[in-house]
Amino acid sequence: MAGLIPQDFIDDLVARADVVEVIGRRVQLKKAGREFKACCPFHEEKTPSFTVSPSKGFYHCFGCGAHGTAVGFLMDFDHMSFVEAIETLANSMGVEVPRDESDRPAQRYDELFDLMSRVERFWQQGLRDNQSAVDYLRGRSIDGTTAKRFGLGFAADGWSTVLDKFGTSQEAIDRLLAAGLIIRKDNGRHYDRFRDRIVFPIRDIRGRCIGFGGRTMGDGEPKYLNSPETVLFHKGRELYGLHEARQALRQIERFVVVEGYMDVVALARHGIDFSVATLGTATTDDHLNRLFRLTENIDFCFDGDRAGKQAAWRALETALPHIREGRQVHFVFLPEGHDPDSYVSEHGSDAFMKALDNGVALSDYIISELAADVDLDTVDGRARLAESARPLIAKIPQGIYRELLIESLANTVGLSAAKLEKTLGRAHGENPQRTAGARLSLGRSASISAGKPSVLRRAITLLLNHPVAGGQLDVEKIAGVSRPGIDLLHDLIETVQKEPNITTAGLLERWRHDDQGRHLGKLAAIEVPEDEDFDPVAELSDCLDQLALAGRRERIDFLIEKQRVNPLDEDEKAELRQLS
Ligand code: CTP
Ligand code: MN
Repeated sequence: MAGLIPQDFIDDLVARADVVEVIGRRVQLKKAGREFKACCPFHEEKTPSFTVSPSKGFYHCFGCGAHGTAVGFLMDFDHMSFVEAIETLANSMGVEVPRDESDRPAQRYDELFDLMSRVERFWQQGLRDNQSAVDYLRGRSIDGTTAKRFGLGFAADGWSTVLDKFGTSQEAIDRLLAAGLIIRKDNGRHYDRFRDRIVFPIRDIRGRCIGFGGRTMGDGEPKYLNSPETVLFHKGRELYGLHEARQALRQIERFVVVEGYMDVVALARHGIDFSVATLGTATTDDHLNRLFRLTENIDFCFDGDRAGKQAAWRALETALPHIREGRQVHFVFLPEGHDPDSYVSEHGSDAFMKALDNGVALSDYIISELAADVDLDTVDGRARLAESARPLIAKIPQGIYRELLIESLANTVGLSAAKLEKTLGRAHGENPQRTAGARLSLGRSASISAGKPSVLRRAITLLLNHPVAGGQLDVEKIAGVSRPGIDLLHDLIETVQKEPNITTAGLLERWRHDDQGRHLGKLAAIEVPEDEDFDPVAELSDCLDQLALAGRRERIDFLIEKQRVNPLDEDEKAELRQLS
């Protein structure tokens, strides 16, 4: 049983890992100046926009936005877990991964995977042995071939079938618990989670069983029961049917996202092999990242009822930040009372395909939904439409797609696109210097005014790209400044000062498990000048000065404003004098 991997070991490993070698072993890289280029392994492309920077220890694709370190690459390309990626890297460098034994030993992944696959096989045998379960599936027109393809099984009625068979030692019981297969009672005893249910194995992309869904055959509640979150199973990341779709299809042209296990299985039974289901959750960013790595086309298929419409709108909001040129998202609404399973069973696969092809494009869906709530014949209605579109458009990355959407929105409200864009842009504080290629203008002449988030962004970008330049910064300067992101800058500066050898990749790995980590990846991908007369130390120090100045101004404004309402106390008066 292994403990946690010490952070300084990870730092060191990431600093020493050769990202070019790690990626180059899996993707054909070509040298281009200081960097290396290739056609992106995460999306289809003909001209290379995938760039690997050995100095940053970082890769980035300007086409699809994929980015990360050597560790991240192993996780995304080889579908490894974080620990597996660290172990693989260490292995290739001939070092052993130390474990912090003071921490509670974690369950070993390989033992849990092994347990899951043994239980899966046990339940598959259970299905063969239970005529009423076979009849149930037949009644839902699932044939043996399809059942086998999805590894369907049956968990017999009884409180301790799995417990008795697999829980033969205390260690084995602990593993069953960790895998979510049994439940502990208050009195310390255990019982089987899945009883008298058809079970659907949920697989990771490599086909390993990580969890189960179980359906009652009668009217029992709940109708579906899923594995809980475990170290193997994270609902918000996994998609039911993804592995099976990849097995069935060499080239995946599109995915259709549905809601249920039975929808996926029934569609596959009718020869539609490219459906996946979220597991009783709304669609997440992780889901979309996974799918968009494999295809450019996603159709969301929902029931035609109110709940379906609501789910569709939520999916739309999640999809917006993922939209870019070439990607197509459609929304398909089935007639009320139908789900994909019932629809394909009643009308056949041609009809279902036709329904897919009649899906509404994301841009049309936005406009028609927003327009439904306002009266387009009035000026007020048109203004409200533009207003309600603003937060949605702000989520779409800049680029052709966004421009086209603004254009059709402009048509609908009867404004010129330029005028509408101005209204939209001004309203959500867009930095006009940002362009689609994710380049920041960093020249000293660029007048980014103090206090805007862009100075903070610039400071973080510089620090990520030139960690050494942060070594001598005076963090005290920004001690009193408050604005979103300032803590992150503060922590970054402290880290580069404590760890003078840390690289871009090292910083990203430090923040991997942090919410802000994903923003850091984007900033690290911004191209910062590397020529000789570019002085990152001076730039950074300039940023801190600007932040400090803006912070002081805000404090003065605050105190003056306060003075108008309430007399200031002595300390505040002194502070104001000093600041002014
Ligand atoms: N679900 C769940 N828990 C429930 C009900 C539903 O996790 N108590 C999830 C399951 O992933 C299920 C999906 O939501 O597959 C859709 O639920 P529902 O529409 O109720 O079921 P169907 O897929 O239509 O299943 P069936 O056709 O077997 O009734
Ligand atoms: Mn159904």
